[in-house]
Amino acid sequence: MAKEYKRYLVTSALPYANGPVHIGHLAGVYIPSDIYVRYLRLRGRDVLWVCGSDEHGVPITIKARREGTTPQQVVDRYHELIRRSFERLGISFDIYSRTSSAGHARTASEFFRRLYDQGDFVERTSMQYYDEEARTFLADRYIVGTCPRCGNERAYGDQCEQCGSTLSPDELIEPRSAVSGSVPVKRETKHWYLPLDRYEEFLRGWILEGHREWKSNVYGQCKSWLDGGLQPRAVSRDLDWGIPVPVEGAEGKVLYVWFDAPIGYISFTQELTPDWERYWKSDDTKLVHFIGKDNIVFHCIVFPAMLRAHGGYILPENVPANEFLNLEGEKISTSRNWAVWLHEYLDDFPGKEDVLRYVLTANAPETKDNDFTWKDFQARNNNELVAVLGNFVNRALVLTKKYFDGTVPACGALMPADEAALAELEGIRGALEGHIEHFRFREALKEAMNVARIGNKYLADTEPWKLWKSDPDRVRTILYLAIQMTARAAVAIEPFMPFSAAKILRMLDAGHIDWERLGEHELIAAGHRIGEPELLFEKIEDDVVQRQLDKLAATKAANAAAERSQNIEKQKDTISFDDFGRMDIRIATVVAAERVAKTKKLLRLEVDTGLDRRVIVSGIAEYYTPEELVGRQVPVLINLAPREVKGIRSEGMILMAADTDGRLRLLAPSEAVASGATVG
Ligand code: MF3
Ligand code: ZN
Repeated sequence: MAKEYKRYLVTSALPYANGPVHIGHLAGVYIPSDIYVRYLRLRGRDVLWVCGSDEHGVPITIKARREGTTPQQVVDRYHELIRRSFERLGISFDIYSRTSSAGHARTASEFFRRLYDQGDFVERTSMQYYDEEARTFLADRYIVGTCPRCGNERAYGDQCEQCGSTLSPDELIEPRSAVSGSVPVKRETKHWYLPLDRYEEFLRGWILEGHREWKSNVYGQCKSWLDGGLQPRAVSRDLDWGIPVPVEGAEGKVLYVWFDAPIGYISFTQELTPDWERYWKSDDTKLVHFIGKDNIVFHCIVFPAMLRAHGGYILPENVPANEFLNLEGEKISTSRNWAVWLHEYLDDFPGKEDVLRYVLTANAPETKDNDFTWKDFQARNNNELVAVLGNFVNRALVLTKKYFDGTVPACGALMPADEAALAELEGIRGALEGHIEHFRFREALKEAMNVARIGNKYLADTEPWKLWKSDPDRVRTILYLAIQMTARAAVAIEPFMPFSAAKILRMLDAGHIDWERLGEHELIAAGHRIGEPELLFEKIEDDVVQRQLDKLAATKAANAAAERSQNIEKQKDTISFDDFGRMDIRIATVVAAERVAKTKKLLRLEVDTGLDRRVIVSGIAEYYTPEELVGRQVPVLINLAPREVKGIRSEGMILMAADTDGRLRLLAPSEAVASGATVG
């Protein structure tokens, strides 16, 4: 028998305030937690839901540097943007605060201080990468290099985003500074470490023995961390942005962002209610952390070890982490702008908040990575929301309006079709509850939508519009039941699609309906007058979806251009004037050209150099046909030592531009000159 809890404390990962929120964040964390909390509230449970912006750490300072502004300005701007867009999507936190607040700094410092005073940290001096040009230590994302596991050349000092490995700066191959690009040196620095190894036994017992019911992706990751053996982890950094380490002799050092951020859950609860200890310090509270998979180690290993060291706090009862959502087959990336940004969606699709909520829940990456595509978005809207839910609700309301002037008719004797539909509806409440309480939100949503599916089929089977003339009493019963099903649909979808649920209730002119009544026969009494029917959802046309695809295509083109410009070759070593003067470059005219047999790249050219006619083999066959070349004037390095290429003696080199993507392009004098003209 599962434990009965008196209250719930729900947290959602604090988004970094270094960019807006995108659909990956929503599908992974915020929509599932909103469904869960809305459901708990509907059931009358005592629940607090806390979240806020994560405003410290290197991602913020990097962003500020890149934009030529201050970290404070970056977090102010994104905190407000994120807070507002969550609100517009109906994400119903009890508090959305921020880690740059004074209250948070106080709580986080006290927490650190307590562990420090108890002797829970170890102090260590070590050699860390230092950027002499920028005069700063290079923590985490300030250091980039090649990933030792997958070869990604842009891996960070804390993580490789390509293969997902957790890294330390020392593991990077050919490290360089993300600040100046220079090669860093090592310098001595002192930091405080949380010796996770001391908590290994406790964590093994608590997770591996005590929480076998956790999602397999979460349990599996914990097990592999624990089996790999835990190491002490630094909880401070050399940075000038963050909460100062509250001990003597720690100038220039701040708390590591992953130390202070989870304490935000506590400080935000304190900000929310003076009664916070009842939530954080009582075994009657069920604490649930909603996070993405990249946060598992911090929420299942590090933060619990911190809480345990501190003492007095409860531990999470569950950590339902999701996998990742991709976008049109590619990994979502803030830095590469490969995302659907929430605030842009809200602007582009006004009134369609629930469509996004629906699609991201139906397609949530609960057990594996999933893909968001605009085609699927359109199809789910048109074939599910419009054709099933919208269609059913509309028919029930419009027919009631038409035949009974909007008054809910009385129920007569039930026929087998009625009994069958009611029997099908019977199990939905229980199934829904089971799925939501076990964090299976996709399945739960299917059950909620089943109410409308059953209703739709019921109307299609009973065809009241054909019976109105011959059997109006039968139509009364059918529409009475259809109205009950409409009300049930509103209750069932409320955790998932709160805007649409409210709209249905408004159209029914019904007030709030308790969750418990989902299983009841009559939710709206006969004789009640309903309101005005409106369309619940509207079809999304191809051109609307095309505009979104065009936007992504533009992003892709911009990224490709940016990438190309990164491939610009570095300047070579300095040469003397004499070195240069020894090269004899002339303008020559191509007089004949043919492919070199059995090669893809080579052409055999005959050129008139003004001095002679000679043969040059050139690797440009992929870019020019022989016909295109004859008659062209080109610069030729004529005193290059002759070489044998494929059995042909090549006497000189055609000078060309190699574009950043490797493509070759001919150069020509801007006006015709005589063959033999010198270049220099
Ligand atoms: N900002 C982190 C991220 O986006 C999440 C922080 S969650 C908290 O990955 F526990 F640290 F608060
Ligand atoms: Zn990698």
